Amino acid sequence: MRQVGPHLVLYGLRVSVDGADDEVVGIPAVGACMLHQLEPQLFVSSDNVVDLGCGAGFDCFVASGLVGDEGEVVGVDMTDEMLSKSRALADELGLNNIEFRDGLLEELPVEDAWADVAISNGVINLCSDKKKAMAEIYRILKPGGYLQFADIANSKPVPQAAVENIDLWTA
Ligand SMILES: C[S@@+](CC[C@H](N)C(=O)[O-])C[C@H]1O[C@@H](n2cnc3c(N)ncnc32)[C@H](O)[C@@H]1O
Repeated sequence: MRQVGPHLVLYGLRVSVDGADDEVVGIPAVGACMLHQLEPQLFVSSDNVVDLGCGAGFDCFVASGLVGDEGEVVGVDMTDEMLSKSRALADELGLNNIEFRDGLLEELPVEDAWADVAISNGVINLCSDKKKAMAEIYRILKPGGYLQFADIANSKPVPQAAVENIDLWTA
């Protein structure tokens, strides 16, 4: 039985443009971009999970254990290097309930209403079309499904000087 109240679990890191008063915020306040601490009560065995922008697949590996052999985990990422890495690691770990797919959050390679839980760590802020990404997440979730994500948001308009500073957009 799934034991959760809210359908959306948010974690955040509030950063100022100049880095002077960075602050971790959370609902609940537990950490910044630490989705590796997945909320286990969001998952039940046999759930279908999609990791949006899975990178090397670490959250998929955690989710794999939470949903068990009857569950399925799909990791989606747009980068070939990350997909190669995540597939190799899953093989090494002997995890058979995970599949990694090439794709964009804005055009998810997942069928309608397939996922019980969608997870994402540090990716939505990178999407060029965030509304489309959110619409896609909504499309792939089953009615009553859950989204747990950790990401970066800014509460004030970004000054033009910061917008034009490429070092602030790349890491
Ligand atoms: C900051 S890393 C996070 C990786 C992973 N979620 C983790 O926590 O380790 C961002 C990942 O998102 C992927 N990514 C960025 N924008 C994307 C998009 N629009 N669609 C799919 N993947 C995207 C990148 O290729 C990269 O692997």
